[in-house]
Amino acid sequence: MKVTISIIKADIGGCPGHAWAHPKALEFAAERLAEAQKKGLIIDYYVYSCGDDISLLMTHTKGENNPEIHGLAWNIFKEATENIAKKLKLYGAGQDLLKETFSGNVRGMGPQVAEMEIEERPSEPIVVIAADKTEPGAFNLPLFKMFADPFTTAGLVIDPEMHAGFKFEIIDVYEGRVYILDAPERIYDIMALIGTPGRYIIRRIYRKEDLLPASVISVERLNLIAGKYVGKDDPVGIIRAQHGLPAVGEILEAFAYPHMVSGWMRGSHSGPLMPAKMTAIIPEKKIALGPKMTRFDGPPKVIALGFQLHDGYLEGPVDLFDDPAFDYVRLIASFVADYIRKMGPIMPHRLPPEEMEYTTLPKVLASLKYIPVEEYEKDRYKYLKESS
Ligand code: F6R
Ligand code: MG
Ligand code: MG
Repeated sequence: MKVTISIIKADIGGCPGHAWAHPKALEFAAERLAEAQKKGLIIDYYVYSCGDDISLLMTHTKGENNPEIHGLAWNIFKEATENIAKKLKLYGAGQDLLKETFSGNVRGMGPQVAEMEIEERPSEPIVVIAADKTEPGAFNLPLFKMFADPFTTAGLVIDPEMHAGFKFEIIDVYEGRVYILDAPERIYDIMALIGTPGRYIIRRIYRKEDLLPASVISVERLNLIAGKYVGKDDPVGIIRAQHGLPAVGEILEAFAYPHMVSGWMRGSHSGPLMPAKMTAIIPEKKIALGPKMTRFDGPPKVIALGFQLHDGYLEGPVDLFDDPAFDYVRLIASFVADYIRKMGPIMPHRLPPEEMEYTTLPKVLASLKYIPVEEYEKDRYKYLKESS
């Protein structure tokens, strides 16, 4: 059976500030998705959050980029903004809904999208991931480790079905180019690109031998759409597991090192990506409330929820970072957060100028008066007296 898994995600307002999505907004979205399920538009759904972002996970048979599915998600976000976020005066109500009228596809309109049409295998375990206060390229390193690093994924060495490796589809979000590179053969070339995560993003990965779709990550860059700082494009993704693909535990192993990512406070700092537990899972409402963003609006966090698909139905979620094994990782992330925070507004804690382009810093810099060096050297005291 062919099934499409669609995740469409947006920040429609935080409580308080950019810390958390409001449970009422998740409930509203789940109720609307239940109606869509009754009408037969979708097979199944789940609504969950990570920080201030709400993900709508939907399964259906309509394929990727389907206007009805995208329209459903867009309308839910629009209505939740009007009915919940604006009424409760949530912070930044509707912040990711950049356009007024729906054009048939939410791509380029603000929300993040990760979709994958698959032939459901006899058993189909999937892991959905979402991160807050960071950017899509934050997943470059863990995805590389999952699908190309034998020190993370033992199956690359041991399992004949994975031994040939994977194809990496990498997108240059600045130039709109796609690179397709095989691992393990081209891992140095892959690294040459993905080491710049703000620009080159691993979007899709396929098993090399049969082009089985293995993972997909959202790559929408809000700043590039809006032309100004509107948050760091907190990414979502879908990863299929087991039986010739990385095991669930190999997928999670890739997050056992809290690497540095861009984002955090004001989308302007680097900090460790902390694998976080969900705050609450409410099965009867089909909603799962994610972790809160606290210290310095973070640190950047990633969640992982596991599901078993059966004829498009979602069995789950299982909160996969809810394990003492990840407490140690969280502790390391806290140490790293503490260490780097002491640098305050100095690089490399604060991001380099290219990445500050869409923030409010250029306005501050533009307001500063300056004197050409040669002129100043001719009459220093004149300028010193005039300065403040
Ligand atoms: C980062 C983020 C927050 C805000 C910060 C300032 O993606 O959402 O860290 O940038 O809280 O927000 P404003 O400028 O809205 O007060
Ligand atoms: Mg926000
Ligand atoms: Mg966010």
